[in-house]
Amino acid sequence: MTRKWPKPVVAIDGPAGAGKSTLARALAERLGSRALDTGAMYRAVAWSALERGIGPEDLEDVGKLASSLKMCLGDRVLVDGEDVTSAIRTPEVDWAVSLVAANPLVRRVLVDRQRVWVDEHGGGVVEGRDIGTVVLPDADLKVYLTADLTERARRRAAEAGSGGDARAEQLSRRDALDAQRGDSPLPSAGEAAKDALVIDSTKWRAEEVVEAVVKALRARL
Ligand code: DC
Repeated sequence: MTRKWPKPVVAIDGPAGAGKSTLARALAERLGSRALDTGAMYRAVAWSALERGIGPEDLEDVGKLASSLKMCLGDRVLVDGEDVTSAIRTPEVDWAVSLVAANPLVRRVLVDRQRVWVDEHGGGVVEGRDIGTVVLPDADLKVYLTADLTERARRRAAEAGSGGDARAEQLSRRDALDAQRGDSPLPSAGEAAKDALVIDSTKWRAEEVVEAVVKALRARL
């Protein structure tokens, strides 16, 4: 079979605080590729809307804003050249981002950019909520990563410099909004892409999750 991308493409989905970013970074390092945090893209749009006094629920204006922003996603997150790596992790952005992520105009723009990112990088590890189901249905491996709410809140609280939604009720509110929206809602573990590897990492160490995913990827390549 001809491969669509020279490097493996891994899609990682799941609720907030499940360990997706940690897994994505470790996996990308193992594979000699790069990781894309698509949540950071939605956060960058939410932050920019708040900065400009645009209501996060204003579909048209936030949609236009999303198309106009230049984003650079790597170890740091740059929006129109400004480093917003910490600014996109505040409680204000946590609150606004679910509204922004429910906006179909924003999703269209960002999904396109995510696909371009994979093409430009010749593959990579992409994490979010709709990666295996919508953005990259042809991924070599799809992972649905979850963990108990209490454990997810504990992990968020432990993240260095996390000023965001470490409390269980805040995480739960955001998951509910992400799961209830009309456009590309966050699937539950049971609704994950049919061919996804579902991992409940509540009792797993980060390295064990990476090993399980590397093994599954080897089996599929
Ligand atoms: O992963 P995160 O917590 O940084 O995501 C921020 C928000 O963006 C969250 O409300 C879910 C949403 N999101 C999304 O709808 N689709 C994605 N592919 C990634 C994130």
